[in-house]
Amino acid sequence: MDIPWWRDAVVYEIYVRSFADASGDGVGDLAGVRERLPYLARLGVDAVWLTPFYPSPMADGGYDVADYRDVDPLFGTLADFESLVSDAHRLGLKVLVDIVPNHSSSEHPWFQAALRGEKRERYIFRDKTNNWQSTFSGPAWTKVADGQSYLHLFAPGQPDFNWRNPEVHREFLDILRFWLDRGVDGFRIDVAMGLYKAEGLPDVGDQSFKAVSPVWGQPEVHEVYREWRKVLDGYPGERMAVGEVWTDSSEDLALYLRPDELHQSFNFAWLQAPWSPTAFRKVIEDTLAAVPFATWVLSNHDVVRHRTRYETADPGTGLARSRAALLTMLALPGSAYLYQGEELGLPEVTDLPDEARQDPVFLQSQGKLPGRDGCRVPIPWTVDPPSHGFSPGGVEPWLPQPATFAELSVEKQEGDSDSTLEFYRQALACRRDLARSIPYTLEWLKSPEGALFFTRGSLICAVNCGPKSVRLPEHDSVLLSSGPIKRGLLPPDTAVWLRRES
Ligand code: GLC
Repeated sequence: MDIPWWRDAVVYEIYVRSFADASGDGVGDLAGVRERLPYLARLGVDAVWLTPFYPSPMADGGYDVADYRDVDPLFGTLADFESLVSDAHRLGLKVLVDIVPNHSSSEHPWFQAALRGEKRERYIFRDKTNNWQSTFSGPAWTKVADGQSYLHLFAPGQPDFNWRNPEVHREFLDILRFWLDRGVDGFRIDVAMGLYKAEGLPDVGDQSFKAVSPVWGQPEVHEVYREWRKVLDGYPGERMAVGEVWTDSSEDLALYLRPDELHQSFNFAWLQAPWSPTAFRKVIEDTLAAVPFATWVLSNHDVVRHRTRYETADPGTGLARSRAALLTMLALPGSAYLYQGEELGLPEVTDLPDEARQDPVFLQSQGKLPGRDGCRVPIPWTVDPPSHGFSPGGVEPWLPQPATFAELSVEKQEGDSDSTLEFYRQALACRRDLARSIPYTLEWLKSPEGALFFTRGSLICAVNCGPKSVRLPEHDSVLLSSGPIKRGLLPPDTAVWLRRES
C-alpha cells in the first residue's frame, strides 16, 4: 500500500493573527505567512495548518465565521490566499485550513435572518432553555428580542448550528468544495465532536469538554464525516481531514477514524500526560492499540505552552523537558503537530496586562480565568523591539511581547547550534531521513527506573524522566540528543536518538 503523505507528516500550526504581519497594522496576515514560508520549509515541516482567516467580527479570534467563503480584510484577500497556496506547494508544503462547523458568527447572514424570524431552524432556538453552560463560562443561552433564546456552546457571538437540518449539511459540503477547488490539501475540523446535541436537550451534570454527554459526541456526528470523506475522496491528491476531538478514551477517538470517516484526529492525551515514563507509555500503548493512524501534539493555540507546563510542574526543568518531549514525540509512529513558536522555546506569556487580553475566556469569566492569550503572543523574528520583526516599521503588535522575546527570536537563535531552533531543524531533518526506512510499529526495550526506551527498526529513542542519570541502551551511534550526554549516560530530563545496525 502506498503511504499517504499525512501518515508521518509534521504539521505546523499557524495562528494567523500572531505569526507575521506584512500589512503593518500589528495583526498577522496571509501575506505575512506567505513571506515566511521559506522559513517553514527550511525548518523541515511537511504542512501548515492555518487557523481561521475568514470574515469575522473576531468575538473568538476568528472562530466566529461570518462568511465561510472569503478572507477577512484584516488578513488579506482571496488572491493572497491563492498566492500562499501556490507558493507553499512550490516549496513542497501542504496547506490545511480550519473549518468551523459547530457554530457560525452571530453576524453570519443566516443568523441575521434568524434574528428577523426567518429560517430559525438553521440554529437552535427555544422558548425554554436548559442548564447548559458555555465552554467559555456563563450560560450557553442568550435571549433575543422576541423572547426566544439561542444556544451557543462558546461565546454569545457563536450561535450553534442545528445539524438536524439538512440545509446545514448541504452548506458545509459546498464550503468544503469551495476550498478544495482552491487547492487546499485538507481541513482541521474545529470542535469535531460537537455539531449534534442530544434530542430534547436534556439538562446535564458534568459538561466537561471531553465527556461523551448530551452536549458532545452524539453518534449522529459520524454521518457528517462519512459525507465529508466522500467529498475529500472525490478530489485527487490525498486530501485529508483532522478532527479536534476531545474524548475520554482512545476507543472513543477511534470511532472518528473509521475507514470512511476522518483520516486523523488530535490526540490530546499526549499533551495532557504528566512527565512520567509510565504515563507516556500508557498513552502511547493506548493510542497505537486504538487508532489506525496516530497523531501527537504538545501545544496549540488553546493550551498553556508545554515549556511553561513543565516548568510550572517542576521549576527549572521547562526547556530541557520540552526539548526531550519533542524528540520523544518525533520518534513515535504517526504524524506530529507543532505549534508556532515552540521551535523557539517560547514560554507562555503569563503577565499580560488585563487591558491587553482579548480572549473571550478571560472576558466572559470577568477575568477569573486568564484565557488563552498567553500562548498567542506574536512571534519574535528579530532582536529589536517594538515588535521584534513581527510587523514592519515601528508598529506595536496586537498583544504585547515581553522583553525576554529578544533572546528567543529567530535572529538570535539562527546559526547557534545550541539553540532550540537549530535543535528542531536537526530533529526534523533527521526524522525525514529516517521516516521511510523505519517501520510504523514500535517495540519497547527494557528500561531502567524513571526512563522509557523504545525502538523502531534501526532507531532507538530513550527518554529519562527520572531524577538520576541512566545508562544508554546498547547502540552503534548517537544521532541526536535533546541536551548534552556524556560517557554513555543519559541525564535527567533528556532524550536521545540512537542507531543500532542490526
Ligand atoms: C476550538 C478552537 C478554539 C475555539 C473553539 C470555539 O476549540 O481551537 O480556539 O475557541 O473551538 O470555536
